[in-house]
Amino acid sequence: MVDVIERKRDGYALSEEEIAFFVRGYTDGKIPDYQAAAFLMAIVLRGMDETETAILTDQMMHSGETIDLKKIPGIKVDKHSTGGVGDKTSLVLGPLVAACGGKLAKMSGRGLGHTGGTLDKMESIPGTRIALSDEEFTNQVKEIGIAIIGQTAEIDPADKKLYALRDVTATVESIPLIASSIMSKKLASGSDAILLDVKYGSGAFMKNVEDARKLAKAMVAIGDKLGRDTKAVITSMEEPLGFAVGNNLEVKEAIETLKGRGPQDLVELCKTAGALMLVQSHIAADKEEGERLIQEAIENGKGFEKLKEFIGAQGGDVSYLDDVSKFQVAKYIHEITSPKAGYITRIDALGIGLSAMKLGAGRAELTDPIDHTAGIVLRKKVGDYVEEGDVLALAYTNKEEVAEVLRDIGGCFLYSKKKKAAPALIKDIVS
Ligand code: URA
Repeated sequence: MVDVIERKRDGYALSEEEIAFFVRGYTDGKIPDYQAAAFLMAIVLRGMDETETAILTDQMMHSGETIDLKKIPGIKVDKHSTGGVGDKTSLVLGPLVAACGGKLAKMSGRGLGHTGGTLDKMESIPGTRIALSDEEFTNQVKEIGIAIIGQTAEIDPADKKLYALRDVTATVESIPLIASSIMSKKLASGSDAILLDVKYGSGAFMKNVEDARKLAKAMVAIGDKLGRDTKAVITSMEEPLGFAVGNNLEVKEAIETLKGRGPQDLVELCKTAGALMLVQSHIAADKEEGERLIQEAIENGKGFEKLKEFIGAQGGDVSYLDDVSKFQVAKYIHEITSPKAGYITRIDALGIGLSAMKLGAGRAELTDPIDHTAGIVLRKKVGDYVEEGDVLALAYTNKEEVAEVLRDIGGCFLYSKKKKAAPALIKDIVS
């Protein structure tokens, strides 16, 4: 291992044998944390080329179980977001793509810190199960075109160990390490095609569009080298996506969107990403046809019917989807008002995400409990004009002492006398 660390320290490209030696040895516990940490830091400082990154990904993917989706006929397509605030896209996009004939077999995660997770949102619908047996998962995708479950412990053990080590050794910020971490899990999940939503901005992992583009290109290159049709959209997380942030609040917004009354930014993202997924599934000939099919699935209600079928199949009580007044509502709803008149020029997504977490919607540690009713519903978005005293947002919580959080939410809004248009949501498509 010392030789391998030295070679990366000195800037050489590593061979398949060297990378495999590291991944196997570290996963098996034969290589200690201190050597792995030194190696990871050498990668952070020296980087990895496309071939090394693809080899690292392949080795990580094969460090544990891989899911075999061959029993499901047709092209299976997966979607992954690098995480954001108010990102309920999967709950809208998944049913829409399935309603158009796509097959989505997806493993999702839980929320952590300021970002939310699809599994928590699904569990805010009473009864919904996110643990299905292999057979249930496969049959559900075959029969209704969509299933979303939690990642099993047997998938990608190398990533679990490496990510925990990176977290405490300042080695998270590296494009090859992030790209291989995300892609190894996606590839192990077995889909033929992958659509990545790489977010940038204050509420995202990548803080600027240039880094997001580099990450997107690195992940698309890995997909290409390992034989999966991979595309990426690069999207803004400079303000939260849509209006709702927090679990059952976001489910309600997802339902509204499937009923044709969604926020403009969320609808735009679902149409673009959905269209690309339909092209990847060979259902649409091009993006334009894909967008038309997605729009039709919103207008004719088939997307909403598919959401009910999907949640019902996973044990969820679909009467909540038909009648959203059944969802529990937080004990306290506080109004946050504007201290002055002007145009909103910025709503800090990171600040909103952290505040939602403090209201109870998220967790600081993966084992913390969450409150499905807590969160924030924005009343204004970037580009809107407000008078002094207008309501900017509503804060939902069951906690008593939240004065500081309410002040923080107010502080997330910036104003100007001049109108500033919201930044384009979709910056680029990488394929
Ligand atoms: N998400 C992942 O799964 N891995 C990373 O390295 C960063 C974000």
